[in-house]
Amino acid sequence: MAPEVAAVTGGGGSDFPARLTAQVVVCSLIAAFGGLMFGYDIGISGGVTGMDEFLLRFFPGVYEKKHHTKENNYCKFDDQLLQLFTSSLYLAAVVCSWLASFSCNKFGRKRTMQMASVFFLVGVGLNAAAQNLGMLIAGRLCLGAGVGFGNQAVPVFISEISPAKYRGGLNICFQLMITIGILVANVVNFFTSKLHDGWRYSLGGAGFPAIFLGLGSLIIVETPTSLIERGHKEQGLRSLQRIRGVGAEEVKKEYDEIVRATAAQAEHPHPFRNLLTKKSSFPQLFVATIFQVFQQFTGINVVMFYAPVLFQTMGLGSDASLLSSVVMGTVNVLSTLVAVFAVDRFGRRVLLMQAAVQMVMTQVAMGVLLATHLGTTNVMAKGYAYLMLALICLYVMAFAWSWGPLGWLIASEVFPAETRTAGFFVAVSTNMVCTFIIAQSFLSMLCTMRAASFFFFAGWIVVMGSFATFLLPETKGIPIEEMTDKVWKKHWFWRRFYDRPNPTPAA
Ligand code: BGC
Repeated sequence: MAPEVAAVTGGGGSDFPARLTAQVVVCSLIAAFGGLMFGYDIGISGGVTGMDEFLLRFFPGVYEKKHHTKENNYCKFDDQLLQLFTSSLYLAAVVCSWLASFSCNKFGRKRTMQMASVFFLVGVGLNAAAQNLGMLIAGRLCLGAGVGFGNQAVPVFISEISPAKYRGGLNICFQLMITIGILVANVVNFFTSKLHDGWRYSLGGAGFPAIFLGLGSLIIVETPTSLIERGHKEQGLRSLQRIRGVGAEEVKKEYDEIVRATAAQAEHPHPFRNLLTKKSSFPQLFVATIFQVFQQFTGINVVMFYAPVLFQTMGLGSDASLLSSVVMGTVNVLSTLVAVFAVDRFGRRVLLMQAAVQMVMTQVAMGVLLATHLGTTNVMAKGYAYLMLALICLYVMAFAWSWGPLGWLIASEVFPAETRTAGFFVAVSTNMVCTFIIAQSFLSMLCTMRAASFFFFAGWIVVMGSFATFLLPETKGIPIEEMTDKVWKKHWFWRRFYDRPNPTPAA
């Protein structure tokens, strides 16, 4: 084997030769633009909902409350419709990731990404031109459809084209793009907030990544797994050779493994039924799904959606609030880079456990700071408001190298081929439902629970840290098609869900 060809060893002797080819890197980056669209939408809504012209046009009641000096600090933005503006996207995403799981199987990962970019463009058009709340929410629903299709197809696409050795790092490009999208949105909001009807430019900006994904997805390869499972074996082999950068002989073993896995899948043509009824599917389904609940109940989107609103609650002016979001967004991007390099070197679990400790400490500190220095009507001293910003950055940092990227990575790599798209759908939609719940309820929760909201999330993080310590198996470096044999059947707890081979009868 040529020295630059990495032998991808799956921990138990599997040896799939592969180079990290330009094809794989470029295709992963283009696909990760789906993440940029998603991130842009996460980051844009908080800044826009803090803009006066936007509030006056669509939410005059909130505008009144915001400028009413006697209003309770914690309740200034408590409005169901305002929360619906942020959360409606996630409702549509749930439904559409279900449709996308079929489209991924029937039309392939690549086509599904193209559909995502079309939905996005329609949503962007409706939002940027919105004349009333109906148009605004309809636009958010279309964006949600784009997120559903994109988030379903992209992580699976990247996991399937990556050599096992680099899968973690490449997959995290998706999360990296999400964080870049959030940061770009924060910067855009900072500038557009100074323009007349600046919110239109903010919402319209989402069109750029959508166009890029649409054009980019015309030139990327389809994954070998998707081609083979749809009966195009020859094309699948050629695609595998191209993305692995090695000769026909060398890809044979991996090709045979994919053919074996997809044939097993064809014997069980009902992925949802397999997923929900087979005892052996339970471990992956449980882990991938609960992980999404945990990811959202870290409270990350409280910060991502509502940071500018939170900073205004603490008494910072709207410029300082938007700028603080830019600082936080930068920390988010840089810390995600740490994950890209660390995840295949140190493994998944160690990052998750370390981060849980850091996040609990910062959440508790934030709760204490608010409880002691922000009453119902006073303005928090500037020094404390900036201390709060520093704590938020430390919290975001920990999330960004752990529960953020690993939520998508683990859900895309733990399922066997016969349940992968269905299982990933359950994971993505659980994520979206939980995001919806947080988006729809946080401002009301802040109004009623005040600083205790932060202790609520700290409690969740203790639970998820214990889960990572005791129940999560390590998946670093294991070829995706060998996960069941090498990970699940060997785990101290989950192995009980698999039939053991009959012991050889004693002679
Ligand atoms: C989560 C998003 C979150 C983002 C923050 C993603 O992994 O799914 O809900 O807003 O990370 O960077």
